[in-house]
Amino acid sequence: MKILLGVGGGIAAYKAAELARLLMERGHDVEVVMTGAAQDFVRPLTFAALTGRKVHTDLFAIESAIEHIAVAEEHDLLAIAPATADLMAKLAHGQADDFLSTLYLAFTGPVVVAPAMNVNMWEHPATQKNLETLQGRGHRVVGPAEGYLACGMTGLGRLAEPEAIADAIEREGGKRSDLEGETVLITAGPTQEPLDPVRYLSNRSSGKMGYALAVAAAARGADVVLISGPVQLAPPRGVKVIPVRTAVEMREQVFLNLGPAGIVIKAAAVADFHLARVPDQKLKKTAARISVELDPTPDILAELGREKGDRLLIGFAAETQNLQQEARRKLETKNCDMVVANLVGGNDTGFESDQNEVVLVLRTGEAISVSRASKREIADRIFDQLLKLRLTLHAAHER
Ligand code: C5P
Repeated sequence: MKILLGVGGGIAAYKAAELARLLMERGHDVEVVMTGAAQDFVRPLTFAALTGRKVHTDLFAIESAIEHIAVAEEHDLLAIAPATADLMAKLAHGQADDFLSTLYLAFTGPVVVAPAMNVNMWEHPATQKNLETLQGRGHRVVGPAEGYLACGMTGLGRLAEPEAIADAIEREGGKRSDLEGETVLITAGPTQEPLDPVRYLSNRSSGKMGYALAVAAAARGADVVLISGPVQLAPPRGVKVIPVRTAVEMREQVFLNLGPAGIVIKAAAVADFHLARVPDQKLKKTAARISVELDPTPDILAELGREKGDRLLIGFAAETQNLQQEARRKLETKNCDMVVANLVGGNDTGFESDQNEVVLVLRTGEAISVSRASKREIADRIFDQLLKLRLTLHAAHER
């Protein structure tokens, strides 16, 4: 693979030298771009000697006025390590005032970002917002890891190990197109079921898992339609997002968009009950107890199960107990090909978290545990298994 390695100006820049060497050892071509600040930490000569190539350092000290465009076009993947807080902010906002940030805008291939900074800088809402923006664009973020930091503090902020970054680069570069030609329909987020014109019933779903699935599918070449309940997430790049509010609206959009979809993933936490007739005036406050009568919402997944044809249908099961048993029951009653089961309540996975830990229960009878990882990572594992499952089901069908 032809890899561009962008080096930011942090103390971890010295580790980028090891990353460059590792990538070369694994048989890749590496060309390095350094920011001005990076050159205060490591000299370009180090990278030139390691890669045997010229190192790009200055947007204006170049042989051709469009060198950054030519460099962008010649390479398969852009990896940025270390990505400082400043560099992440620049990339997130599209500011282009040096070779690396300009090249980033001109680059259309996959991007891997490995942040490294002080723990407080990492946890600052500004950095977290930029992180979300970069993830929403489909970039794969590796790390940061937890541990001793150069500033003397301990916490999240260390650059991920060079091996882990190299693995992520190879994974990202290797499977860019295994969903090409495929339409993937994904639902995400909660639904809101109005009680009156100003109040609603809803749940704690953040939509992060469904959005991570959309980002992963788009990164692997799929046409993605994302039907999303109300969430606080940026629409992923290259994904058709259809916003909905209620279960009834979600059902309507699912069936309107079902046609070309070969894979349908129901990651949304659809409300199970709603008020069939919503009063058109706000309910008045009273001293007495009131009761409302709720009707079941349409079970979109079950309906899909009846009409799926040869589509792959994936449901989610968020449970507080008997995880696999419940998932298997759901798989069978709703005619799914896979149910992604996760325990909710208590630990830092599932709802609202950036991480998850799941069991993939398959139609073939298998159950595959995926240990704690980022939702983006989990999303990729789900697609890996789905592609395998499709081959198995086809082979069984042929026999
Ligand atoms: O049965 P339960 O609601 O726990 O199943 C969860 C799965 O069913 C999720 O994939 C969810 O998106 C889907 N579902 C649905 N329509 C509903 C309720 C749940 O599609 N009304």
